[in-house]
Amino acid sequence: MASLFQEFRLKDVVLRNRIVVSPMCQYSSDNGFPNDWHFVHLGSRAVGGAGLIIVEATAVSPEGRISPADSGIYLDEHIQPFARLSEFMKQHGAVPGIQIAHAGRKASANKPWEGDNHIDNLQGGWDTIAPSPVAFGGNLTKVPKEMSVADIDHIRQSFVNSAQRALAAGYEWLELHFAHGYLAHEFYSPLANQRTDQYGGSFENRIRFLLETFTAVRNVWPERLPLTARLSVTDWIEGGVTVEESIELARLLKQAGLDLLDISHGFITPDISQVPWGPGFMIPIASRMRRELDLPVGVGWMIVDPQQAEDAVQHGHTDLVLLAREMLRDPYWPYHAAVKLGVYQAAEILPVQYARAVKR
Ligand SMILES: Cc1cc2nc3c(=O)[nH]c(=O)nc-3n(C[C@H](O)[C@H](O)[C@H](O)COP(=O)(O)O)c2cc1C
Repeated sequence: MASLFQEFRLKDVVLRNRIVVSPMCQYSSDNGFPNDWHFVHLGSRAVGGAGLIIVEATAVSPEGRISPADSGIYLDEHIQPFARLSEFMKQHGAVPGIQIAHAGRKASANKPWEGDNHIDNLQGGWDTIAPSPVAFGGNLTKVPKEMSVADIDHIRQSFVNSAQRALAAGYEWLELHFAHGYLAHEFYSPLANQRTDQYGGSFENRIRFLLETFTAVRNVWPERLPLTARLSVTDWIEGGVTVEESIELARLLKQAGLDLLDISHGFITPDISQVPWGPGFMIPIASRMRRELDLPVGVGWMIVDPQQAEDAVQHGHTDLVLLAREMLRDPYWPYHAAVKLGVYQAAEILPVQYARAVKR
């Protein structure tokens, strides 16, 4: 049996394989509510055979949405439509996961296909908040309001409330979005955090918001279910966060009950010129972190080839492989990977309605 198709147990959750649909914003919600688009988008990837599907960055508060069309889980009324999604994913053998997020200074933006730029308040945008009043730059020119300690307490509680709603909606895997230049990463990175209070300056202060938020969520998220975080482990830029620092942060998160680290990178500034783009370029970093931390990890980025995914798992570089764009190209990637890797009875990966017909 290919390693990619071996089950993966974490706490009381068992994934049927190591293939994960990486969270992907669809910019298709209204007031945070997911709809039929999400049902088909996520449902077809469950039918396609993924082990775990992580629902897109879902905002913990309205001003934490990247765009007005982002998903959110900041109202109790959001629970039911999110439950419809999780139930279908479960029916088709995928574990339903969800990423909860706050976009910080990158919020209040247009959809990518409408410019990706900040929306003026007169045109439906809103005031953004962040650790420090420093604009992201590029298309995102709004200067955020510096968060008070009361704001920090409020957002931490919003993460807790959203985690509870995600649980009520049937999600079995929770990922905190600590990556990609959004709010938590803005606290972590000196490139965005210029505070002089207990939430800025030293490493210990810059990670305080992340650790406090993680711990508060851990207190309400059941021990039997995985609680994970996606971290930008490097900013790639002088003066930004480094892998060494991130190993230390992950060690502290592990002590606080982190079950798996989703290893990502960058996007704290518009400058991505230092990123060493290439197939599976994050795998060596994931491998190092997995080894040094003795913690399960997941990793993605430009993994498209089944053999590369198989090698990454088989050689112990990662526990899980996350795919985003390739899953958009092919929702049946798990099935096609099984065929390519010669997995016995690959068709069994598909639902019964398809499996019998495909086998013949
Ligand atoms: C359309 C789209 C939306 C995305 N939205 C999110 C998101 O909501 N949360 C997140 O952490 N990453 C998001 N990402 C990043 C992906 O999860 C993934 O890490 C990245 O695309 C690299 O994987 P890939 O090379 O397989 O596409 C998004 C990527 C795409 C293409």
